[in-house]
Amino acid sequence: MAGVALHLSPGWDENSVVCSPYIAGGDTINASLNTALSPLALDPAKLEPFADPLPLPPIARSSGFRPSPEGPSRKVPFYEIEMREIFGRLHRDLPPARQWGFGGTVPGPTFETRSGEELLVKWVNRLPAHHFLPIDHRLHGAELDKPEVRTVVHLHGGRTPPSSDGYPEEWYPPGQSATYFYPNRQDAATLWYHDHAMGINRLNIYAGLSGMFIIRDQVEDRLQLPRGRYEMPLVIFDRMLDTHGQLLYPVSDNPAAPWVADFFGNVMMVNGRVTPFLEIEPRRYRFRILNGSNSRLYHLRLANGMPMMQIGTDQGLLPSPLELRRLAIAPAERADLVIDFAGHQGEPIVLKDDAVDVMQFRVSRARVVDDSHLPDLLRSVPRLPEASAIRTRTLTLNEYNDRTGKTILMLLNETYWHQPVTEKPQLDSTEIWNLVNLTDEVHPIHLHLVRFQVLDRRVFERFEYQRTGHLRYLGPVIPPEHNEMGWKDTVRAEPHAVTRIIARFEGYKGRYVWHCHNLEHEDNEMMRPYEVIETG
Ligand code: C2O
Ligand code: CU
Repeated sequence: MAGVALHLSPGWDENSVVCSPYIAGGDTINASLNTALSPLALDPAKLEPFADPLPLPPIARSSGFRPSPEGPSRKVPFYEIEMREIFGRLHRDLPPARQWGFGGTVPGPTFETRSGEELLVKWVNRLPAHHFLPIDHRLHGAELDKPEVRTVVHLHGGRTPPSSDGYPEEWYPPGQSATYFYPNRQDAATLWYHDHAMGINRLNIYAGLSGMFIIRDQVEDRLQLPRGRYEMPLVIFDRMLDTHGQLLYPVSDNPAAPWVADFFGNVMMVNGRVTPFLEIEPRRYRFRILNGSNSRLYHLRLANGMPMMQIGTDQGLLPSPLELRRLAIAPAERADLVIDFAGHQGEPIVLKDDAVDVMQFRVSRARVVDDSHLPDLLRSVPRLPEASAIRTRTLTLNEYNDRTGKTILMLLNETYWHQPVTEKPQLDSTEIWNLVNLTDEVHPIHLHLVRFQVLDRRVFERFEYQRTGHLRYLGPVIPPEHNEMGWKDTVRAEPHAVTRIIARFEGYKGRYVWHCHNLEHEDNEMMRPYEVIETG
C-alpha cells in the first residue's frame, strides 16, 4: 500500500507484514457451521435440534430510586447488575457450561424503558480474577501488565453522555463497579448492552456478557403491535462447543499470538440455548432480532418460505412494514420483525440461516383472536439531505496479512487506536462518512452516540485507489436496501465498495468510539476514538 507507515505493536514481526488484498472472503465461510476447526469440538450433528424450549431473559428490575445526575431533584430508577460466572446448560443433552453473564443469565436481563425516562445502572464486576478464554497479550489494551479480567459496559445504540458510554479504556477489574446514567432521550428502538473492554472484548462478549435494552415511546404505543407474551427478543449467536458442552474459543497455530481473524462456531444459539423451539399460537408475533455473534453474518429465512414483515431497524421503526423472505443481518445489527403465523395451525416452522437450523416455531392448533395490528404507516423517517452535511470524511477499512496470507491486523483509515484523534465532528453538525472498504470482507461499522442513514454504496477499483488515492468507480450508485431506509447505528461496509452514511452529531460533546463490530477485528485495532467538539 503506497505511503503507509505501519506502526507495529511490539511482538509483530515487521518484515513479515505485507498489505495483501488477497484474502479469502470471510463471508463464504459463513454459509455453513464450522465443524472442522478443533479435535476437541463437538460434532453438532450429534446434538438433537429443537430439544430445548426457547428461554426468555428476565426483565431487569430496579432496586429503588436515586437522584438524577442532570437534576438531583428528580429521582430516577436505579438498577444494580452484577457480572458473574455462571454454569448453565446450553442444550438438554449437555452438562452445564461455564459462562459469564449479567445478573446470572445469558443473555442478561432485558431493560424495559421509555423514551425520555432516565435511569441509572450500577454495573458490578464480580467475575473471577482469571479469564477462561485465551487472551492475546500482544493486542492493544491486553498487555501482560493489565489485569486479565476487565469489563466496561456500553449501551449499543444509546445516546449516552461520554462518561457513561463505556469507553473501552475505562475498564475495571473484579471487585469494582461503575454507575452509568442513561437519559434515553431518543426514539423507541431495540438497543443492547455489552462489554467493551479493550483487547478482550471478543472474549467477554463470547463468554456471555450481553443483553437487550428496549426503549418504547408513544408513537409506537399507538400502533398496537403485538405485545406482552407475543413480543420477545431473539438474540442469535454462534458458539463453538467442545465435547463436554463447554465454550471453546479457537486459537491460531502460534501460541504467542493466539488471536484469530474471525470466529465461526459449530452451534447456533438463540437466547443462550442451542437451536431451541418455541411454542406459539397461530397469530402475529413481534421478534426483536439481534445478531449478537462475534463475526457471523446471518441470512435468516423461514423454511416454509413464508414472509416476515420487518418493522424496524437498529434505531427504531421503519416508515412502513417491509415484506421479506430473507433477512441479512450482520453482527450488532437489529431487525424488528412481525411474523403472522395465522393459517399455519399445527405446523413446525424452522428459522434458518441459509441451510443451517437456528430455531423452530411450533404453531399450536388453538383458536385465537389476534387483536394486534400491523398498520401500513409506522413512523416518519425524514431523509437527511446531503446538502446539510458540512463535511465529508473519506475513511478506509484496512486488513494486513503476513507472507502466509494470515491476517494479522485490521485498521480504520490506516490508523492505530492509540494515535491522536482525527475525527472531530462539531456538536449539532451533519457529516457524510465515506467508508472505503479495501478488504474482501463485509465489516459492520458502528458509531457510538449517533444514529445515521445509509446514503448509498458503490464499487470502486481498489488497486488504483491503493496506488494513487483516486476513487474510480466500477459501477452505478447502489441505493440502500429497503430495510436500510430506517435509522441505523451499524452499517455493512461491503467489500470493494464505498459505503456512504450521513449522521448528525447531536446529544453530547466528548470522546466516543467508532469501530468494526466484527469483534475479532475490533480487538485488533479496527476501532478508533472520535470526539464531538463545541461548535467553533
Ligand atoms: Cu456494540 Cu462499540 O459497540
Ligand atoms: Cu471488520
